[in-house]
Amino acid sequence: MISKKMEATLNKQIELEAYASFLYLSMASWADQQGLEGAAKFMLRQSSEERDHMLRIFHYINEVDGHAITPAIKQPPKTFKSINVMLEEVYKHEQKVTKAIHKIVELCYKEDDYTTLNFLQWYIDEQREEEATMRSILDKVKLIGEGGQKLYYIDMEMEKFNAMAAAEAAAEADA
Ligand code: FEO
Repeated sequence: MISKKMEATLNKQIELEAYASFLYLSMASWADQQGLEGAAKFMLRQSSEERDHMLRIFHYINEVDGHAITPAIKQPPKTFKSINVMLEEVYKHEQKVTKAIHKIVELCYKEDDYTTLNFLQWYIDEQREEEATMRSILDKVKLIGEGGQKLYYIDMEMEKFNAMAAAEAAAEADA
């Protein structure tokens, strides 16, 4: 059983994760339009991961006798100034999500809600990984710089992350 305040806070988090899923889907579509296949594939996978993040909270709320609410999602931007700007936005959004998760952790301590605290552990790890991935991509983008073939190299780098994610998924399936 969770408090009404915790239920409302977790429902807010559902909204944030759902928005991230739609924002990343919109980014995938834009990247695809620019011919950036690696980036499109990367953002599509991120979008589907965010949907999974949303659903985990959704199931958790109902499991602890709360009421998970399907959120209204505001329209995400349809276009982005550049791939660099788009990737910076992803990183900023992930930092915002991390802060929101930390706020819920604070509430867990205030309410002595150790069940939700335990549930959130997975999100803390996930956010650390996601922020690290985005920082690593942004570092590569800085190294590539502004040369004429910049887009080609950025897309190639993102394809490497796709290959890593595919290898990890295959290893998990074998385990
Ligand atoms: Fe679920 Fe990447 O925030």
